[in-house]
Amino acid sequence: MAFIDWSDSLSVGYKEMDDDHKNLVGIINKLDDAIIANREFEEIGEILEELLSYTVWHFRHEERLMQTYGYPAFYEHKQEHDELTNIALAKSKTFQQGNLDVANDLMPFLKDWLIKHILETDMKTGHFLAENGD
Ligand SMILES: [Fe+2]
Repeated sequence: MAFIDWSDSLSVGYKEMDDDHKNLVGIINKLDDAIIANREFEEIGEILEELLSYTVWHFRHEERLMQTYGYPAFYEHKQEHDELTNIALAKSKTFQQGNLDVANDLMPFLKDWLIKHILETDMKTGHFLAENGD
């Protein structure tokens, strides 16, 4: 069973963002599968790296879209991205030191953060882009 199920309730109404979010959910589910299958530290680390770099790329992508179409709450949205990026970098460091409880600490945190961010912050941006973007 997937850790996060994509459903239309997560759609923000703007395809470019939905496509990224589906990819993000896919990487998080892959990470969960690896944890359940008790994969090696190195393999979990590789998926974590992939998740981190995709997340950073995705945040920049959303920020480019917001700037291109003059989204009024750009800074508030970017601030949430920056906060998550800082937390993710800190958790990644803790992982490298062998001190991160990936299953019980990281996974629930990621799920809660992503779903809340998509449903609240990205949803407003997606609706704006659907009306004002290409
Ligand atoms: Fe976002």
